[in-house]
Amino acid sequence: MEPKTKYTMELEDDDLYDLSDVDDQFKVKQIAGWYNKDRHGNYCKDEQYAKYLYLPRNMKEVSFDLNQKHEEDVYKPQNEMKESIDSILKWVVENSTDSEGMPKSPDADFVCYRGILYQLMCVPYENKDSLRVCAIKAKGTTYLCQFFTEQNRKDRQAQAENPDMAKFTKWGHKFEHYMVSDEPGKPPDATQPMSEYEELNIVYQSMLGPHTLIYGAEIDGLTKKEDLQDLYQAKLIELKTCRQNANNYSFCRYKLIKWWAQSMLAKIDSIVVGYRNDEGMVKSLEQMRVANIPKMAKGWSAPRCVVFLRDFLSFVKHVMKDATESDVFEFVWYPGESSYSARKLPPGNNCNFLPDWFQSWLVT
Ligand code: A3P
Ligand code: MG
Ligand code: MG
Repeated sequence: MEPKTKYTMELEDDDLYDLSDVDDQFKVKQIAGWYNKDRHGNYCKDEQYAKYLYLPRNMKEVSFDLNQKHEEDVYKPQNEMKESIDSILKWVVENSTDSEGMPKSPDADFVCYRGILYQLMCVPYENKDSLRVCAIKAKGTTYLCQFFTEQNRKDRQAQAENPDMAKFTKWGHKFEHYMVSDEPGKPPDATQPMSEYEELNIVYQSMLGPHTLIYGAEIDGLTKKEDLQDLYQAKLIELKTCRQNANNYSFCRYKLIKWWAQSMLAKIDSIVVGYRNDEGMVKSLEQMRVANIPKMAKGWSAPRCVVFLRDFLSFVKHVMKDATESDVFEFVWYPGESSYSARKLPPGNNCNFLPDWFQSWLVT
């Protein structure tokens, strides 16, 4: 019999999902470590890049001008689309050793970035963006990396060429600059230059149903100096901007699902929202507990998102049960499709995202 080359996973209706035991399904078991990116986007490990939230005394009356610029500001190219997981792989190489200090394959079924996991969680309710995931299994661990569909590329290009969208992206980063400083309790100085590349990433070890995962996530803010020493107990902060007087249904239907999925995976305690007008002035702030967001959901269910991600990972394991290290599998879904489809890519594909230095490390 010919080996099977195409696989599908049906996206079932909400009521076919058993959501009863969902609270036991996902758990961050521990925080395995952290790393940073410096102002040029280089991987490093330096406490100076950790940022601490500073909440002004009166959150209802602030005046932050998101248009403020500095000639030394560093911006990411608007159409940048990274198809690699190099920084989490670097962290794995530096941190996965056995008791004798010898290299050891990571202790997880899956290694990836948080970005791919939260986008998968949103798939049952997504009606705009397609999602393409490539997967390689090596030494029992499956590595997941986002690759972009033609549709993703066109959308990102259109976004980069749209002056309003480009402006909103810059505003989001500038908002962070008004909200965090390099010392707890120190007021931020938004006149200083900023870089969109600079970031703190935390590495999580989580469990989702039968699956174990290691993933990296970018964190906007810490609250206390001791947080870096005990990130599991830290109250982690996500920062978001939002148009003031945004349509409430559309906010609760489309925005909150993404904010929630992104935050719950990273054990974020609360999101600080900066409400901005169309001129880029933030006039008020609100702190929103992540745990309360599922109650505000309109047209989506938080447990369903979790169950979908769990079942997707089971599908990946099933499809790749006999995969070898040279195989790359592709999982693609387009809005409107009732199933996720998968296939093994033919030899010569351009999707082998495990770099040579990582593969050499794996075989030592
Ligand atoms: P806002 O979300 O406040 O608009 P994050 O919120 O994930 O920390 O990202 C910080 C900012 O980067 C965002 O702030 C937004 O400006 C920009 N950004 C992140 N993801 C983006 C995307 N897919 N498209 C455009 N801008 C994005
Ligand atoms: Mg961020
Ligand atoms: Mg943010």
